[in-house]
Amino acid sequence: MSETAKIELDGKVFELPIITGSENEKALDISKLRGQSGYITLDRGFKNTGSCTSAITFLDGEKGILRYRGYPIEQLAENASFLEVTYLILKGELPTADQLAAFEEKIDSHTLVHEDMKRFFEAYPAKAHPMGILASMICSMSTFYPESQDPNRSEEAFELSIIRLIAKLPTLAAMVYKNTVRHPFMYPKNDLGYVENFMYMTYGMPTEEYKPDPVIASALNKLLILHADHEQNCSASTVRIVGSSQANLYASISAGISALWGPLHGGANQAVIEMLEMIKEDGGDLDKWIAKAKDKQDPFRLMGFGHRVYKNFDPRATIIKKACDDILGKLGVNDPTLEIAKRLEEVALNDEYFKARGLYPNVDFYSGIIYKAIGIPTEMFTVMFALGRLPGWIAQWKEMLDNGDPIGRPRQVYTGENERDFVALDKR
Ligand code: CMC
Repeated sequence: MSETAKIELDGKVFELPIITGSENEKALDISKLRGQSGYITLDRGFKNTGSCTSAITFLDGEKGILRYRGYPIEQLAENASFLEVTYLILKGELPTADQLAAFEEKIDSHTLVHEDMKRFFEAYPAKAHPMGILASMICSMSTFYPESQDPNRSEEAFELSIIRLIAKLPTLAAMVYKNTVRHPFMYPKNDLGYVENFMYMTYGMPTEEYKPDPVIASALNKLLILHADHEQNCSASTVRIVGSSQANLYASISAGISALWGPLHGGANQAVIEMLEMIKEDGGDLDKWIAKAKDKQDPFRLMGFGHRVYKNFDPRATIIKKACDDILGKLGVNDPTLEIAKRLEEVALNDEYFKARGLYPNVDFYSGIIYKAIGIPTEMFTVMFALGRLPGWIAQWKEMLDNGDPIGRPRQVYTGENERDFVALDKR
């Protein structure tokens, strides 16, 4: 017999089915509650609401666990390539060597973007934010591949859209970078790996030979894996909800990119460096800024600290902190902003306010530091996050369709005016 919970409303008892996940997490299924009782549930920011069932990523914020398709993030970040993890997230199983080679070959054959897309870049103002350009470029891809707009297309056509997107995002991201620094675009070089090809298109110049630095390639590979999925966060939920109207894949991912842009989500990595630079410009008085972060009347928050679900530690931050120390050591970086980051980390980790609220450096704190150390412009940081998150967004979108989830349409509790009569203006 299936488990139920009882809820009493206006003297009547209603039974709610209990849903149990594969890690024994429990949920009350309230989907029929309104029809039976007239009540909805209210949960601002969906802090306690599951919007779907999903078999992609498991995370336990209290225990600091993150697994893609059952595999611990620590093992994947240490041993896998980003495309291997992409395959895993999309298909549910790790690829064999042959499957991985075939997948890589497919990606390699779609890395070029349509030449006409280059012309879009001419129209953006010089100071355009890279995330605004990227979101527009990805949405524009649907206009180059109109067949992607058919919600009833074949499995092969779905697959082709997915391959195109994975193959072209690094090319477009590198073009966005080149546009930022006003350098010529570099065409992809498909004998390079996925990460190395992105580095080539980003750091390479037509006038000189370029060899990707393996230290940087390995750090980027790790960063992309750490960002590859994170279950129902703001951008993944956006991708699912946009896709639930049967909007095409490119439009749905473009919406995810926009959701990621904000400083409370993916934009935090940019906000971290901007904050560190502001503290440096201000004279580097950490006590002053920590006091401001604790002051409830002051809107300032320590960027890169805290997380909606990880309240003890973020397993990604543990891995990335080590990679961060490694890369700073290997590249011999000596940057006063990074010094402030180290001091801030130490002070905040020992402060009662931060300890009591489970606020410690998150993945964006360290990723921002790494991107700065490897010469990525600050405004490009969130683009790097998007590059990593792509497989997760696609898998969430595909799962939503495969599960036949209905169109996303939350309810509300209306708090506005009651009915009143329109009074026509005296138009004399
Ligand atoms: N600095 C100072 N105080 C903070 C901070 C912070 N960064 N984050 C949370 N608090 C305080 C907050 O004022 C509240 O205090 P009190 O209980 O006294 O009212 C308490 O901690 C709980 O905060 P909350 O806003 O209810 O927590 P949340 O789970 O809704 O928000 C968060 C999580 C990530 C939005 C928030 O911690 C934050 O704004 N952090 C800074 C931005 C940031 O680094 N974002 C990246 C998140 S990781 C990337 C990703 O997965 O997208």
